[in-house]
Amino acid sequence: MSERVGIFCDTEFPREAAAELAAGLRAHRVLRPAVALRGNLAASQSDPAILEAEIAFGQPDPASLLAAPRLRFAQLTSAGYTRYDEPRFRGAARSKGLALCSSSTVYAEPCAEHLLALILATARRLPDCCEDQHQRGWHAAERRRQAFLLRGQTVVLLGYGAIARRLTELLAPFEVQILALDRAPRGDETVTMLSEEELDAALARADHLVDVLPENATTAGFLDARRLAKLQPSATVYNIGRGTTLDHPALCAALRSGAIAGAYLDVTDPEPLPPGHPLWDAPGCHITPHMAGGRNTEHVALVRHFLANLARYERGEPLRDRVV
Ligand SMILES: NC(=O)c1ccc[n+]([C@@H]2O[C@H](COP(=O)([O-])OP(=O)(O)OC[C@H]3O[C@@H](n4cnc5c(N)ncnc54)[C@H](OP(=O)(O)O)[C@@H]3O)[C@@H](O)[C@H]2O)c1
Repeated sequence: MSERVGIFCDTEFPREAAAELAAGLRAHRVLRPAVALRGNLAASQSDPAILEAEIAFGQPDPASLLAAPRLRFAQLTSAGYTRYDEPRFRGAARSKGLALCSSSTVYAEPCAEHLLALILATARRLPDCCEDQHQRGWHAAERRRQAFLLRGQTVVLLGYGAIARRLTELLAPFEVQILALDRAPRGDETVTMLSEEELDAALARADHLVDVLPENATTAGFLDARRLAKLQPSATVYNIGRGTTLDHPALCAALRSGAIAGAYLDVTDPEPLPPGHPLWDAPGCHITPHMAGGRNTEHVALVRHFLANLARYERGEPLRDRVV
């Protein structure tokens, strides 16, 4: 039996996930804040309960993680970790021996499936066919002529983390060429990795440009007017990373002028876009409500991911999805 430790959890999970978490933490002391979180997009308030914890699970505020004297392992309930991705936090965490993990593994599968669905929908002209149906239209010759195969096409991935790696696996049977940009390639990539200098030339070849960048100091407005202008008129842009990484007015202008063929946005800035925002009805623009990472088993998967990492922590093994 492992030693009993204090585990701070700021998130209120739905019933089934809460029961699994309670069973998994039976041997430990669970510390709850006065105000619980329901989602994973906002940080929780600072709360004295974390000061007694060795482990935290949820969206604890960064200053509280550093202030808690015994804290050694924190697991976030999100794939993104913008709040913690800055040199001061990293340095302080390193000094106190705090490991921070994301839940990228939980979100990689649904996000990759979502992207695959969008890429296939583009190739098979599904949005056009749905629109035709609403209009009682039957444009067989035109839709057949517009549909294309993925084989031989070029997919450019911005950010090559958990989602992009899983998408690469899902795309394997389609025999596309994949080019990817990452901040610090690991060396085990199975696709062609690009330097930032090589990106412009890759953009000019892209049939599908997939943005899976996180939000951080280096990615704000990364896909700007200059980079969008490199794309071919037949290219489609997909963003499921963060809205701030894509220049919205520049995207809107590119869609309206026909400089690109279409865009699929699962994330926007702000979320949701205001009702009068021009992207809502820009030609070829399809918006989903930040749901690419969602699935009906999301919360149970988050709890299982945490409990598996907790077991690794207890055995002194390397943690999964460690980001700091
Ligand atoms: N739409 C949704 O429902 C949904 C769901 C899950 C995730 N997301 C978003 O998707 C993002 C990616 O998720 P993931 O699980 O794939 O994360 P991940 O495994 O952390 O991968 C992100 C990759 O992007 C790299 N990167 C960071 N800054 C970069 C830059 N300036 N240029 C090139 N590469 C850069 C990172 O490098 P380092 O390792 O060096 O930082 C990392 O390899 C998340 O951060 C989140 O914002 C959205």
